[in-house]
Amino acid sequence: MSGRLGHGAGYRLHSPAAGKYMSAPSRRGQVITFYSYKGGTGRTMALANVACLLAKRGAGNVLMIDWDLEAPGLHRFFSDQLVDASGKLWHRGLDTQLGLLDLFRDLDQRIDGSQYGEDEAAELLKSVDLDRYIMRCAVPSLSLMKAGRFDNDYSTSVNTFAWDRLYEHAPWLFKSFVDRLTDRFAYVLVDSRTGLTDSSGICTMLLPEKLVVVFTPNTQSLTGIVELIQRATTYRAESEDLRPLIVFPLASRIEMSEEELRRQWRYGGEGETVQGY
Ligand SMILES: Nc1ncnc2c1ncn2[C@@H]1O[C@H](COP(=O)(O)OP(=O)(O)O)[C@@H](O)[C@H]1O
Ligand SMILES: [Mg+2]
Repeated sequence: MSGRLGHGAGYRLHSPAAGKYMSAPSRRGQVITFYSYKGGTGRTMALANVACLLAKRGAGNVLMIDWDLEAPGLHRFFSDQLVDASGKLWHRGLDTQLGLLDLFRDLDQRIDGSQYGEDEAAELLKSVDLDRYIMRCAVPSLSLMKAGRFDNDYSTSVNTFAWDRLYEHAPWLFKSFVDRLTDRFAYVLVDSRTGLTDSSGICTMLLPEKLVVVFTPNTQSLTGIVELIQRATTYRAESEDLRPLIVFPLASRIEMSEEELRRQWRYGGEGETVQGY
């Protein structure tokens, strides 16, 4: 997907609407996005662990969102820990439960190509019954928004959903989404799409005030995250979204038995090729 939020000059696009975006520090919760340039870093597991720790510590209501729509997996960590409204273990099919993609498809249909301003976007989000798209976990205060309903149409929906077009029509929609969720949850942890795409742009530039960047110590992974961090922080600095964007690098899959390699990757070595981190 080559949209404004992912690649090219357009990723800096911020409409007049996005201008005044979320200035007031408030009692709202916060959005923390977990990003990695590639898969297999342990990103989803790190998010799941942090979410459980926060919820068990009594930090308030915690919501996990699986925005890795092409490779959804967060729900698998909780497949035997989801409960229904009465607190009983979920025994019906997980696949049929609605999630993030269903919510945004519904919003997109209702917007139907019109131009939505700030108030209209807020009204639209207010009218949504969020509970249709959220599942409760056995850990009290912990909830999950799956990637979507995994039916026969899922992969087509993922591949054809035009995030860039939705953003152009309703740039405030993502702010309203954040507002709606952070009114209700103290922490919203987003498992981002990898790479440099429209989806990962939304997850890293528009939604969070904290960005956990998971990387394995190798050149591709490091180069990818440096570019992503530059994009996200430049975007935020140039927009008038006054919330901070704090980046937490998180090294993963460190091979403890390879001491010399571990030292080189940490502090640099092998001439110019390994810079360290
Ligand atoms: N800290 C860790 N130590 C060992 N294995 C891990 C760790 N984190 C994740 N894994 C394993 O690595 C695999 C990929 O983890 P996952 O969190 O799904 O990665 P990602 O979301 O980055 O693709 C899983 O099989 C998981 O069990
Ligand atoms: Mg994952």
